Amino acid sequence: MRMVDLINKKKSVETHTEEEINFIIKGMLDGTIPDYQVSAWLMSICFQGMTFDESAMLTQAMAKSGDMLDLSVLGNNIIDKHSTGGVGDKTTLILVPLLAAAGFPVAKFSGRGLGFTGGTIDKLESIPGFKTSLSNEEFLNQVKEIGAAIASQTANFTPADKKMYELRDVTATVNSIPLIASSVMSKKIASGANIIVLDVKCGSGAFMNTYEEAKKLTETMVEIGKRSNKLMSAVISSMDQPLGNSIGNGIEVFESIQILRNQGAEDLKELCLYLGAAGLVKTAKVKNIEDGKKYLNKFIENGQAYQKFVEMVKYQGGNLEYIENPEKLYETGFAFTLEAEDSGYVEKLDALTAAKASKLLGTGRDKKEDSISYNSGIFLNKKIGDKVYKGDVLAKIFANSVEEGQKARKTLFEAFKLSKQPVAQPDLIIETFGVSS
Ligand code: URA
Repeated sequence: MRMVDLINKKKSVETHTEEEINFIIKGMLDGTIPDYQVSAWLMSICFQGMTFDESAMLTQAMAKSGDMLDLSVLGNNIIDKHSTGGVGDKTTLILVPLLAAAGFPVAKFSGRGLGFTGGTIDKLESIPGFKTSLSNEEFLNQVKEIGAAIASQTANFTPADKKMYELRDVTATVNSIPLIASSVMSKKIASGANIIVLDVKCGSGAFMNTYEEAKKLTETMVEIGKRSNKLMSAVISSMDQPLGNSIGNGIEVFESIQILRNQGAEDLKELCLYLGAAGLVKTAKVKNIEDGKKYLNKFIENGQAYQKFVEMVKYQGGNLEYIENPEKLYETGFAFTLEAEDSGYVEKLDALTAAKASKLLGTGRDKKEDSISYNSGIFLNKKIGDKVYKGDVLAKIFANSVEEGQKARKTLFEAFKLSKQPVAQPDLIIETFGVSS
């Protein structure tokens, strides 16, 4: 087999066989196929696409390129969830202890963030002492013992995805539905769960800006999962405004703790319960989403989900003083408020602009090596649809310098738009796939 012929094949919109895809992934990793040929092939996929079967074969080859976690010792109702990432998205921090408290163990690999705010791992690292780097053995033992663990991916996890992403990043080939879908799903499949819940974000603060793109990505990931014998549920959720009230790292842990203590933003809680219920429906524990939400909510109300979070933090070495007093997670030297200049209703709270304001506080990174601020961030007091009076505090900004705080405040001002007319609260869940309600 020659790589040049395979590039030509994709360029001519022909379909690859499993053998051909395995040949490419193996050659890419052992160096027998040079980066320039892999790059040309990736570019041809960008233009010509891939069938669902090809995408599933590519996903399998990528998943099997490194360690595959075997979670069968935990039972056969193992739920994993993946969010395509958005502003203020802290659902993993809530869902993992919630499902574990409800009797469904979760072994969750998460990532650091690139862009405006950190990823789940950055957020957890804002808790002093919290250890995110676990060996596969430590990770599994923890889930066996307490039912919940969140850790960063180990060095030999989906190396094919790492290599392909590096090439895609510098060859303008990130933005391809089959490549994104196989990248995400390879990590899900190597993580070993048999039930996968996807939360595909759509809107200004998401990877997928339009509904059409989000739908295509969701369908592709669901089809890949089904071809890999996974039980799949998915939702498309809105990312036109930030999720919940906080944006940052430590401050998002604070808000997660609020939800787990049965306080905090309704939209965030609703999405967590929905995603959890979408997983439970696949276990046959509940009949439908409403039953699943009610079932899970009991574990928030009786404090067991919060206790599970505390147990997980303790197990992973985190300082519990910061969990008991979570305000400490966003203590900074300087705080600013953004007030409404007029009365009205919040018509717009643009997620991307709010994320840019947060980035000015140091909450995100441009390159993997960049350092990140754990304590700075934004707390939104008003969201779309809320009534405001002139002088009301729209948001609070927690900064490590006056200059950063003032710049963030100026940008955040641009994110808000008020209307004189009442504004309806937007739907958070736009569409569902494979979820009976
Ligand atoms: N997230 C991933 O994991 N992979 C991509 O290709 C894009 C986003």
